[in-house]
Amino acid sequence: MNALVEAMAAWRQTGETIALVPTMGALHSGHMALVAEARSRATRVVATIFVNPLQFGANEDLDSYPRQEATDAASLEAGGCDLLWLPSAAELYPAGFATTVNVSGVSERWDGAARPGHFDGVATVVAKLFTAVQPDVAIFGEKDFQQLAVIRRMNSDLGLRVDVVGMKTVRDADGLALSSRNAYLSDDERLRAVALPDAIEEARAAVLSGAPITEVLAVAKARLAEAGFGPIDYIALVDAATLEPLEAAVGDMRLIAAARIGTTRLIDNIQVIQVTK
Ligand code: PAJ
Repeated sequence: MNALVEAMAAWRQTGETIALVPTMGALHSGHMALVAEARSRATRVVATIFVNPLQFGANEDLDSYPRQEATDAASLEAGGCDLLWLPSAAELYPAGFATTVNVSGVSERWDGAARPGHFDGVATVVAKLFTAVQPDVAIFGEKDFQQLAVIRRMNSDLGLRVDVVGMKTVRDADGLALSSRNAYLSDDERLRAVALPDAIEEARAAVLSGAPITEVLAVAKARLAEAGFGPIDYIALVDAATLEPLEAAVGDMRLIAAARIGTTRLIDNIQVIQVTK
């Protein structure tokens, strides 16, 4: 941690600006798009790889989460990253560590309800990374839309003064959002997984054509079930800023979904263009 803090101070002294890209590794083109954006927004790019135990539930995939640090380091270097920080759990959470960052409201529904404690873990680690690196800008993916909203709220509430930038979701050719967890899918599950982006795309079109929201969501749910998804944690039309569920199409909206296929939990979301009444 000391070496990192010193490196950041040296850069700042010579007038460099710093962009941060926090990750859990097993990098794919979605992560690399964040690095490219970071490159364009600051003179120095710092990436972190840390599989954060605080954000995994007891029955989740902390132990099996894909780890490939040598390959990741090579990709980051090729992508123009200046410094890769791989903190250890003991470095971030030394003995006696007792602080949790809890963002109420925006973190409570959806993934917050399906994964109790998850967003506390995310907010706590991102607060630690922001404090250590003190970046001018930090880049996150819209793929984790609620996570982005939680981080924006925390950054603003704690006055961390980081410019938090959200990047569009990078997808495979068939539309499935890239995710480190896609590596868990069997060939057959991978083929069926495309029902997730398909269902929310179809739901978006139905919302915009004026179909009743409850009906739209029921159709999307049925489509996921038919493709072999189950259980479905949620599929909802929400206000893009508050993430509160909407019963009618109005304002800046987002369709969000999380469902399991086999043992793999996938999430996705899309923007639904603004409708004014
Ligand atoms: P991780 O899942 O590794 O994702 C790191 C960053 O990459 C996040 O901001 C995520 O939203 C973004 N990302 C993932 N898939 C993407 C895709 N297909 N297109 C664009 N961006 C994508 O999210 C985390 O790690 C952690 O919760 C973290 C923020 C690092 C805190 O531990």
